[in-house]
Amino acid sequence: MLKLILPVAMLAAITPQIAAAQATDPTPAIKERYATLPNLTDDTKLYETFGRREGLVAIMDDFMNRLVANPRTRPYFENSDKERIKALLVEQVCVVLKGPCTYSGRSMAEAHMGMNVNEGAFFALVEEFQKTLNARNIPFAAQNRLIASLTPMHRDIIDR
Ligand code: HEM
Repeated sequence: MLKLILPVAMLAAITPQIAAAQATDPTPAIKERYATLPNLTDDTKLYETFGRREGLVAIMDDFMNRLVANPRTRPYFENSDKERIKALLVEQVCVVLKGPCTYSGRSMAEAHMGMNVNEGAFFALVEEFQKTLNARNIPFAAQNRLIASLTPMHRDIIDR
């Protein structure tokens, strides 16, 4: 449990630093799409660590099953087009990991607009993502690199 809570707390604490780093991020592949840029990694091996495209597809399958099983996230996903979301998540994470992909979905602000995502639902989702990555034996350091790249997007996703 501690293993799950600690990284989430750490990420909340480092979010301002990540935001500062993003302000100068010149990465073009994703810039036009996001009001909030993910903090892209410069580790070229990270994409391999996640099992390349095949690995990401398996991760998102498992992740979506967990999101539908968790009562805090289920209401958002049960009537959604899960196959489409999974495919877009694969693309998005692939881009964040510097894989050979292009993200074809909407901006995070657009995709989550009016959905009333609160902090509880957001952290429940992050927790399910960590459980997924643990189940697939993704090394802890690599997990944190990816999650640190994704969580700054919370500003565009959570409705306050
Ligand atoms: C860092 C966190 C998150 C990331 C990276 C993320 C990423 C994405 C992506 C890539 C899409 C597809 C975009 C598109 O439809 O064009 C999407 C859609 C969606 N997300 Fe998220 N998301 C995050 C957090 C959340 C949270 C916390 C919830 C709710 C608990 C949520 C619920 C949804 C739903 C229901 C859709 C489908 C929207 C639709 O089909 O109209 N997301 N998300």
